[in-house]
Amino acid sequence: MPAVRADKLYKIFGRRSARAVELLEDGRHRDEIKSLNVTAAVVDVSFEVQPGEIFVVMGLSGSGKSTLIRMLNGLLPQTAGSVEIGGTDITKLGKSGLRKLRSEKVSMVFQHFALFPHRTVLDNAAYGLEVRGVAKPERETKAREALAMVGLDGWELKVPGQLSGGMQQRVGLARALAADTDLILMDEAFSALDPLIRRDMQSQLLELQERLGKTIVFITHDLNEAMRLGDRICVLRDGRVAQIGTAEEILNDPANDYVAQFVEDVDRTRVLTASSVMEAPIPVIDPGQGPRTALRTMRENQTTSAFVVHRNRKLVGAVREDAIGEAVRKDAKNLDGIVETGIERVHTDTPVADMFAQAAQSSYPLAVIDDDERLVGVIPRVTLLAALASTNGGEDGGSTEHGSAAGKTGDSATAGSEPAIGASGKTDAAAEDAEASGGKPRSAAETESEPGDDAPATEGSRQ
Ligand SMILES: Nc1ncnc2c1ncn2[C@@H]1O[C@H](COP(=O)(O)OP(=O)(O)OP(=O)(O)O)[C@@H](O)[C@H]1O
Ligand SMILES: [Mg+2]
Repeated sequence: MPAVRADKLYKIFGRRSARAVELLEDGRHRDEIKSLNVTAAVVDVSFEVQPGEIFVVMGLSGSGKSTLIRMLNGLLPQTAGSVEIGGTDITKLGKSGLRKLRSEKVSMVFQHFALFPHRTVLDNAAYGLEVRGVAKPERETKAREALAMVGLDGWELKVPGQLSGGMQQRVGLARALAADTDLILMDEAFSALDPLIRRDMQSQLLELQERLGKTIVFITHDLNEAMRLGDRICVLRDGRVAQIGTAEEILNDPANDYVAQFVEDVDRTRVLTASSVMEAPIPVIDPGQGPRTALRTMRENQTTSAFVVHRNRKLVGAVREDAIGEAVRKDAKNLDGIVETGIERVHTDTPVADMFAQAAQSSYPLAVIDDDERLVGVIPRVTLLAALASTNGGEDGGSTEHGSAAGKTGDSATAGSEPAIGASGKTDAAAEDAEASGGKPRSAAETESEPGDDAPATEGSRQ
C-alpha cells in the first residue's frame, strides 16, 4: 500500500471551481479559464509515494506546490480528486478525523519554522504530542530524544529567539520527529537557511530518513536540493505534473522541453552516481588463475591491467601486465604477491563529484562495488572527465566509448590532471540566484498563519 496516493487532484480557488475543473479536464491551460475568475492552483495531479521514500515536489513560484502539500494533510479541501494516506481516503474525513490525522499520521515542517516564540525549545518540540494529549513526562522524554537526534541536546530550555535559523529549523524537524508520524511533509523547510547550513540540514535529513525510515514529501524550488534529496521528483508546471521520475531519469530523459530547460543548469556530477557512469569490468581475472592464463586474458582484451575477482564476484584487487609478465618469466604458479589489494573503490551510490580525488590518486580505473563488495563496474578516468565535461554544457553524461577494459585507459589518462570541481560552485550560485528572484515575498499574514496551520484553532478556516 502506498504511503500517499493522490488521484486526479484539483484545487481551484474561486467560486466557479466546478466549471473550471470541467474545462481543465478537457486539457485547457489555466490561463484559458481566467474569465471564470478562478485560480487553478493544482490541476489533475496524480502520484503515489511509497513508504520510506523521499518524494520531492519541485516547481517555480506559483506552480502549486504549497497548495498541493496542504491538501495532503487536509489543511486545504480539494476541489476534485482524492488523497489517500496509508490507504485512508482523507477527503472523506470530517474535522475531528482530520485533526486526528494531523496529530497521529502526518506532521508538517514549514519554511519559517513555525515555532512558538515564548515556549521553550522543549515545549516546541513536544507540541505535536501535547495536541495529541500525551502526558507531560512522556512527551518531554520523546521531545528530548527528538532534539538529541537533530543535535540540539542542551538547548531544551532556551526559547527560539536564542537560536540561529538553522537551529530553529532543527526544532521544527524535532517536533515532527517527536510526534513520530510515519509521514512528514516539508514545505520549503530549508529555503530560508544559508547555503552551507542548508546543505548540512539536507545531509542530516538524509541520515535521519535512512535511520528512521520515514516517508517524506519535500517541497523545494531548488533543483539541486531536489536532486540531492529526492528518491523521486515531481516537477510541477502551472499546477500540472510535468514529469515524475528519479533525478537521473529527469536529467537523462526529460519528458518535455520545459523539464529539459529546467534541468539544464543542474550540476550533473552531484546527481549522476557511479552506477550510472560505470562500464563493464572486462576482463576480470580469477585469483586462482596462473600468470600465463592471466596474461593471455589481458592480451586478448588488449589491456595492461585487470581486476582480480573471486568467483562470488567479490573484488580482490588488480594486477598489471608487467607484474604478470615478470611472474611468467619466474615460472610462478599463481598470482601470489602481485595482486594490488589497496586499489581505490567507490560504492555504486557515490556521486561522480565525490570521485575525482580518488580517481586522481589511482593509476587503475575506479572499482565500483556494491553493498557486498562485489565488483559491479569500473570507471576509467576519461569517463569521469566526460561526465564533468557534460556538466559544462556538453552532451549527455553517460558512459564513453573508451576503455571498457580495466587497464586500457587507466594508463593513458593524464596523471595529475586536477579534477575541476568548480562547476558545482557555479551551479549552486545560479540556483541561489534563481531562488532569490523566483521566490515571491511572503506577506506577514501568510507567515503568521503558519504556526497555527497544524493547530486545532485554524480548523474553522476549512470550508
Ligand atoms: N488562498 C488562496 N486563494 C487564492 N489563490 C491562491 C491561494 N493560495 C494560493 N493561491 C494561488 O495558487 C497558485 C499556487 O500557489 P502556491 O502557493 O501553491 O504556489 P507555490 O508553488 O507554493 O509557490 P511558492 O514557491 O511561491 O511558495 C498561485 O497562483 C497562488 O496565487
Ligand atoms: Mg509555496
